[in-house]
Amino acid sequence: MKCGRCRAPAVIEVRRHNAGYCRECFVRHCGEQVRRAIDHFDMLGPGERVLVAVSGGKDSLGLWQILRELGYDADGLYLGLGIGEYSDESGRYVRAFAAERGWKLLEIDLAAEYGFDVEGGSRSAKRAPCSACGLSKRHIFNDAAIRHGYDVLATGHNLDDEAAVLLGNVLRWETEFLGRQHPVLPAAPGFARKVKPLIRLSERELAAYCVLTNIDYIVEECPMAGGNRHLGYKHTLNEIEERSPGTKAAFVFGFLERAHERFAAEVAEARDELRPCAECGAPTPGDVCAFCRMRARAVGEPIGVRSIS
Ligand code: AMP
Ligand code: FES
Ligand code: ZN
Repeated sequence: MKCGRCRAPAVIEVRRHNAGYCRECFVRHCGEQVRRAIDHFDMLGPGERVLVAVSGGKDSLGLWQILRELGYDADGLYLGLGIGEYSDESGRYVRAFAAERGWKLLEIDLAAEYGFDVEGGSRSAKRAPCSACGLSKRHIFNDAAIRHGYDVLATGHNLDDEAAVLLGNVLRWETEFLGRQHPVLPAAPGFARKVKPLIRLSERELAAYCVLTNIDYIVEECPMAGGNRHLGYKHTLNEIEERSPGTKAAFVFGFLERAHERFAAEVAEARDELRPCAECGAPTPGDVCAFCRMRARAVGEPIGVRSIS
């Protein structure tokens, strides 16, 4: 097979685009897909400071590199979740990546900063580990972006991630989540702007990008993710994609163009109920936000005590 752009021997085929690429043209293709996503969804403005949440995996390290190559002022943020050897190793990959390039990396350690790890939070809040982990990530990423004065927080969610989450939300008709499922969540009081610039690239393209540009990333998956529903959805979507290439992209972009707006009312209604958490000030529908409740239980503190003392 030949590269569809320059006719050199192709190193990868992307069936969704019915195209083969040589190394150089593929790397350029990845940059162009991110550029198109940023422009189409108006994700980033010129000169804005971007905080990229980097886990040590292919998606987020690839994203950080692509954003820097597109000229963005992007720093990294790594959150140590305390998931044994997996977290230790992820941290080593992120630090080595940043140090080799001389890029600024912020680090936050969940246990050191908040007194609990994912397993402790999961046990005390009676949530699945992935749910306790997701709650911690959302809370801490948002807080870090605001506290350190970044204009926007970028995550490495790719097309496969978005398709799997969309399928899960549709299967249960989670209308409020559907209204919030978008590659750009605008800034609002207490919320930093959040963007997903990899929405036009698949997991496989990100893995190939990292291999072809010599990015060393952690290959192992999180050991807690075993029973995670989204892994099952990804598997199902991969089978469909195998039979009809382009289905995942049609599913996600069709939703964004034709259905997303229909769920705006649910989101607006939920937003109207938000007020500052009595402990940390983050927007929440209750008195104390879910993250602060989980933290208080995990460290054995009565809920709400910080706001009184
Ligand atoms: P996940 O929730 O594991 O699917 O990861 C989605 C995105 O969240 C990644 O692409 C990263 O941008 C970010 N992320 C996940 N884990 C971490 C972490 N420990 N530290 C910083 N960012 C992370
Ligand atoms: Fe969060 Fe696995 S990375 S539970
Ligand atoms: Zn709180």
